[in-house]
Amino acid sequence: MDFTENESAQVVAKSFETTDDPRLRELLQGLVAHLHAYVRELRPTTAEWEHAVEFLTATGQACTDIRQEFILLSDVLGISMLVETINGTDAHPGTTASTVLGPFHMTGSPRRELGESIDDAGAGPVCVVEGRVVDTEGLPVPGATLDVWQADHHGFYDVQQPDHQPAGNGRGLFTADAQGRFRFTTATPSHYPIPTDGPVGALLRATGRHPFRPAHIHFLVDAPGYQQLTTHVFVADSAYIDADAVFAVKQSLVREFVTVDDEAAAAAHGVTAPFTLACFDIVLARR
Ligand SMILES: [Fe+2]
Repeated sequence: MDFTENESAQVVAKSFETTDDPRLRELLQGLVAHLHAYVRELRPTTAEWEHAVEFLTATGQACTDIRQEFILLSDVLGISMLVETINGTDAHPGTTASTVLGPFHMTGSPRRELGESIDDAGAGPVCVVEGRVVDTEGLPVPGATLDVWQADHHGFYDVQQPDHQPAGNGRGLFTADAQGRFRFTTATPSHYPIPTDGPVGALLRATGRHPFRPAHIHFLVDAPGYQQLTTHVFVADSAYIDADAVFAVKQSLVREFVTVDDEAAAAAHGVTAPFTLACFDIVLARR
């Protein structure tokens, strides 16, 4: 079969017929079919294709141990959110919705005791976050692990400011108690721009898109026998709550972060007034 415009996808797809792994074969042949259809329809010039290759090259070159430009690209194209929506907990009614992992998750968050602060810099207005991890019947999931991470009050993650923030600032690995309860203290999160100093930032500028995400705290929740949950809690009155640059907001994940100006309530939470209080219960799906 000649390599013609109309036959190109079949010619290349056929070359993958030798793939032993049927799922790998399906994924590659599907990729070829869609990519060739895209090129046939949009008809990029040679210069445009070279520009696309340069963009992807720059995206890879921007990645380091602590920076993931490809996840960022996937995020701003909505692919991260689509993959999460397909594979997340949406299929399990009554469970907490999932959302994107994002590019700032680090394995090895510092292990912390319940109630401890993740704000090692002590820089932000104090926020108490508490809730319970339960199953769909409302029964506690004792000993669930909660990996939490967030940007500081100025909107930067520790890994973005290694000279200003101690490593592990804004991160914590907690274990829920026997009733599934968890609580920690942090800096009230801020909305922030995703990194714009790389190729993804250039893409946003070229298309007139803003880079901002509404204020949120990330959660990765795990318990034996339950489906792992990747999610955020979003701050209800945050800027950009209706215009997240990575399309990750789900209304069921938005909570009021209430200002509490009461010394007795503050003392009960081990902080001083005024502080911000957010309650976020997490419902896991059984595996
Ligand atoms: Fe984030």
